[in-house]
Amino acid sequence: MEYFGKSHRAQWKTRTGFILAAIGSAIGLGNIWRFSYLCYENGGGAFLIPYFIALFSVGIPLMILEFGLGHREKGSSPLSFYKVSPKWEWLGWWAVIFVMFGIVMYYAVVISWCFNYLIYSFNLSWGDDPNKFFFSKFLGLTRGPGEIGDIRAPVLFGLLIVWILNWVIVYFGVEKGIERANKILMPLLFILTLILVIWSLNLPGAKKGVIKYLTPDFKILKNPKVWIQAFSQIFFSLSLGFGIMIAYASYLPHKTDITGSAFITAIGNCIYSFIAGFAVWGTLGYMATVQNLPIDKVVSQSIGLAFVAYPKAISLIPTFSKLFGVLFFTILLFAGLSSSISILEAFTSAVIDKFNYDRKTVVSTLCVIGFLGGIIFTTGGGLFWLDIVDHFLTSYGLVIVGILECLLIGWYFKAKRMREHVNSVSEFKIGKWWDFSVKIFTPCVLGIIFISSLYQELSKPYGGYPITSLILIGRDWLFVTLIGAIIISSYSWRSEKK
Ligand code: TRP
Repeated sequence: MEYFGKSHRAQWKTRTGFILAAIGSAIGLGNIWRFSYLCYENGGGAFLIPYFIALFSVGIPLMILEFGLGHREKGSSPLSFYKVSPKWEWLGWWAVIFVMFGIVMYYAVVISWCFNYLIYSFNLSWGDDPNKFFFSKFLGLTRGPGEIGDIRAPVLFGLLIVWILNWVIVYFGVEKGIERANKILMPLLFILTLILVIWSLNLPGAKKGVIKYLTPDFKILKNPKVWIQAFSQIFFSLSLGFGIMIAYASYLPHKTDITGSAFITAIGNCIYSFIAGFAVWGTLGYMATVQNLPIDKVVSQSIGLAFVAYPKAISLIPTFSKLFGVLFFTILLFAGLSSSISILEAFTSAVIDKFNYDRKTVVSTLCVIGFLGGIIFTTGGGLFWLDIVDHFLTSYGLVIVGILECLLIGWYFKAKRMREHVNSVSEFKIGKWWDFSVKIFTPCVLGIIFISSLYQELSKPYGGYPITSLILIGRDWLFVTLIGAIIISSYSWRSEKK
């Protein structure tokens, strides 16, 4: 049985290529708007304390676990879990299925918004009221998730472009597609971000925003919610529990520095967030200054930040404002694309490991399904659907996968055994602290996040949506993908039988 998945496995050409691809997956839309907002909401600079604690106590250990697992078993997430214990193959499938047929479907729609806004930047199409423009004109928002409304043509068009780009990149495989794309996209992303940061910091009043971003309010650390938010952000941001890092690591050569790569990827991702925060806050400070408003009045969260507050700020910039807009949305586009290709690859490698289908057919089929499935999020009610699906998949799906993978590797497979494997190839050796994190600490932290989400769920309906919508769209999305995972794992492995 141990033969499958081993033959003709693709490999990264260089270690840098692997690291850039892993960082590309980690750095996404969430690093830019979500992190900045979380800092603001949770005690400014003080938020960096729980954030970095979460990075070192959970983020890096779990990254080492996923890299180690993929590298040791030389398999996508279902194959790797299968090799650890055939009973757990479903877990590997579930992760890649709900990310491929859930998270990336709406994520690609948000990338499509970025693409549209990139074009809108050329003549500042959002006009004087970006709020009305975004919600009414662009999204054609309906009254609730039960009212789907019509498909928004520009969003649909953007979605098509996003899937074509995904397809073009992943079609050519690990080395010629993903590695090459990340080697271009990532350095460009870093340079463009740096330009945006410097530009933003030179706008009048930028300092006001930065002070708001970083002034620490240590009192807030007593609030457990702040800690939960820090751990959840680290988890989502580092692509953990997605089955992605396992697949990426399976393309590593035998002798490779796993721990070093995990440290670079995880720390690189967090430093990027921190730096991008200066661009966001510098711009908000500028906007508050020009409009003579207190900074709290110009702040908004998540999509409001990228598609309402930022466009407003762009219009206010006196020189080269259009270029500023193009720069910002290009950054979002690159950050988003390098994440979406990563799950496409993780799912593709899972299907190839299991059924031995032709790579090009698998990628093409997945892109068509991804595009068609995403159409629901391009409708007038799409934003509500997106919000509900995102809430359920990230608060429960990812967290459950994270807990189970820690327990499985930590206790069943034995953390010590994995640590010895990782240490046998890595330059930087990890100690017993890692076993503690994987066996006890991380499952406990994720368990607390899970229970607190469940508690909130039961005390009041998420987002004020009707309960039936939450059940049908959110909970059932999780269940259907879970059933899909169980069904697929009941098929036998066809890898070597062609
Ligand atoms: N880390 C990304 C972010 O911060 C999210 C992400 C990672 C993602 N992998 C993904 C989203 C795959 C969609 C598909 O935004």
